[in-house]
Amino acid sequence: MKFGIDPATATVIKRYPHRAEDLVKSFSDRQVICKHWLAEELDKIIKRGIKKDRPDKRIYVAGCWYGNVLVPLITDMFPDCDIRMHDINEQVIKIVKNIYFPDLDQLKASVLDSQHFSYNDTLINTSCEHMKPLKCTSGTLMILQSNDYTHDKDGTAINDHINCVKDVDELIAQYKMREDKIFYKGEKDFVTYKRFMAIGLRK
Ligand SMILES: C[S@@+](CC[C@H](N)C(=O)[O-])C[C@H]1O[C@@H](n2cnc3c(N)ncnc32)[C@H](O)[C@@H]1O
Repeated sequence: MKFGIDPATATVIKRYPHRAEDLVKSFSDRQVICKHWLAEELDKIIKRGIKKDRPDKRIYVAGCWYGNVLVPLITDMFPDCDIRMHDINEQVIKIVKNIYFPDLDQLKASVLDSQHFSYNDTLINTSCEHMKPLKCTSGTLMILQSNDYTHDKDGTAINDHINCVKDVDELIAQYKMREDKIFYKGEKDFVTYKRFMAIGLRK
């Protein structure tokens, strides 16, 4: 048997011990399953030629958290694309910039409230439940995940989840997706809650 922790994660825990639990959550099975779900469906869309025809040089990631699971998947798929990571939490952005991806030239990370930014090109937002629907220019390729996780098993409200949706169609409506340009919509049932994903173009 062999156990190990990657050096970057070990550094985060040493420098920010109070974030250890949150960091562990970011590596949970469900988080990993949902990030791979995103990458697999996006890959199928690209192979259908949809993204190739669009001038997408830049991918924004709103509410990016640590980027530890998502960023390696994106860089494999888009080695030449600029990646712009946004999070409202200053420590999270320091961890992204200084610990997880200090040498990744294609990535820049900024502290900002995504609700005050207008997105274009391609937007990935797997934190839709944490914020009001974001502003995007017409034609933006949007890759969105949200959930209906309003309360824990014991009935406690999840305060951070300020914008859950009841189903994937509510997510599509919130983000004003063009009906004829919905490339994927689906859900995963995690028993205590459902997670939804929609990929398509802004009206
Ligand atoms: C718990 S994490 C991500 C959970 C999500 N289910 C996922 O899989 O990516 C939510 C992140 O969104 C960030 N966040 C919340 N509100 C935000 C906002 N208005 N603008 C930017 N980032 C925000 C938080 O700081 C946090 O890093």
